[in-house]
Amino acid sequence: MGSVSLKIGDGTARFRRATLCSSAVNILMLLSVLTTNLFALYAFTSSPKDHHAHHLLHHAHKNISLISEQVSLILREIESSQKKLAQMEKELLGYESIDLSRPNIANELKLFLQHHQLPLGKDSRSGITEMVASVGHSCEKSADLLSQYMSYKVTEPCPDDWSVAQKLILRGCEPLPRRRCFAKSVPKVGLNPFPSSLWKPVDNKTVNWSGFSCKNFQCLNSKKLGRECAGCFDLVNGSENQRFVKARGKNDFLIDEVLALGSGGIRIGFDIGGGSGTFAARMAEKNVTVITNTLNIDAPYSEFIAARGLFPLFLSLDHRFPFYDNVFDLVHTGSGLDVGGKPEKLDFLMFDLDRILRPGGLFWLDNFYCANDEKKRALTRLIERFGYKKLKWVVGEKADAAGSGKSEVYLSAVLQKPVRM
Ligand SMILES: *[C@@H]1O[C@H](CO)[C@@H](O)[C@H](O)[C@H]1NC(C)=O
Ligand SMILES: *[C@@H]1O[C@H](CO)[C@@H](O)[C@H](O)[C@H]1NC(C)=O
Ligand SMILES: *[C@@H]1O[C@H](CO)[C@@H](O)[C@H](O)[C@H]1NC(C)=O
Ligand SMILES: *[C@@H]1O[C@H](CO)[C@@H](O)[C@H](O)[C@H]1NC(C)=O
Ligand SMILES: *[C@@H]1O[C@H](CO)[C@@H](O)[C@H](O)[C@H]1NC(C)=O
Repeated sequence: MGSVSLKIGDGTARFRRATLCSSAVNILMLLSVLTTNLFALYAFTSSPKDHHAHHLLHHAHKNISLISEQVSLILREIESSQKKLAQMEKELLGYESIDLSRPNIANELKLFLQHHQLPLGKDSRSGITEMVASVGHSCEKSADLLSQYMSYKVTEPCPDDWSVAQKLILRGCEPLPRRRCFAKSVPKVGLNPFPSSLWKPVDNKTVNWSGFSCKNFQCLNSKKLGRECAGCFDLVNGSENQRFVKARGKNDFLIDEVLALGSGGIRIGFDIGGGSGTFAARMAEKNVTVITNTLNIDAPYSEFIAARGLFPLFLSLDHRFPFYDNVFDLVHTGSGLDVGGKPEKLDFLMFDLDRILRPGGLFWLDNFYCANDEKKRALTRLIERFGYKKLKWVVGEKADAAGSGKSEVYLSAVLQKPVRM
């Protein structure tokens, strides 16, 4: 939009106009109700005099039913006017998918979602006339939680509610609305310079542990946090520092051999469900920049990855990746790709990954856990539809991580995206 600027004051004025307008409608409605009542009163009192008592009683009966009919008519009129009013307010606020006219909606949410007319009219380069705030349409389903999230004091510290934010994201309310409060800051003590930061233990104090059951990294390492993170915060004594440089089995490919397959053209990559960022760390040592996609589910992955000097992307896999087409040389993922649900869900994810990977780029599927044979076949069929060249393809079995004696099937592959015309 370049030269186009926004006047905040303009927006506020618009909001006030909206309120004024709805008060005008209110007054109009009140007047109409009053007149209808006056008419009813007139009909009741202005009848010619009749002195026959039984007649009178008869008429009174009739008149009472007439009046009650009138009253119910008025009530219906009021109800429909109220509906019309809510609809008008909705239109004035300019938001259809989120009902801002319902009670208990935080005022900050209304302000954030307000449309802003461009002060100079239509912008010739972008073709837009107003700016609309970006917020996930599924936020409507969690309106109460969203309102709680947007209830804060402007320019004061935000409530300690990062877990509310993540809960909203996991319910599809993504992107979240912006806020005008100061996020709780944590002094980042003992950060190491790059590249020694990649493997130095991260200080417990770099994280505010409120909202986590663990209160330090030692505790996290004693827990099984998922397939991508078993002791993954232990950078010194565990198996984390062996990953990608030392194979535990034929399903493990080494970074050097995969980079060799890319014949020197691998410079930037994207890692999905990257745990504590070790893939990105190993790649950084090869001068390859990798962005690690992660949420903070049960552990402060984002803080840890950042403390290592790496790039954490706080985004759910349901969100369209915020990258342009054909930009990455490499996409790396393991069982994080298993999004569950209908096959179309994985379809949409795979097409989006394909979109951001450049032709000739590598898709590294790393130890994808196949819960059953059908899962393996479905994934294989899906991959084959994309027409990637199979540079490596290994289906292997490993002893069950839980130690039950059963073996589990894993698929590892390095695939090259074709040039499509
Ligand atoms: C009821 O209305 C009739 C006309 O419909 C009128 O003649 C009569 O006087 C009214 N009765 C009373 C009690 O107002
Ligand atoms: C973490 O956040 C909570 C709530 O905002 C705050 O009370 C607490 O002091 C913070 N802890 C640290 C170590 O900063
Ligand atoms: C983190 O806290 C645990 C438990 O208090 C402690 O054993 C460990 O040394 C700490 N680690 C770092 C890097 O501060
Ligand atoms: C790793 O193990 C060594 C020797 O067993 C021990 O001295 C050291 O404190 C351990 N480091 C961490 C971070 O646990
Ligand atoms: C990474 O880049 C630095 C600086 O350009 C260079 O000295 C180093 O050899 C490179 N490392 C690798 C593995 O290419």
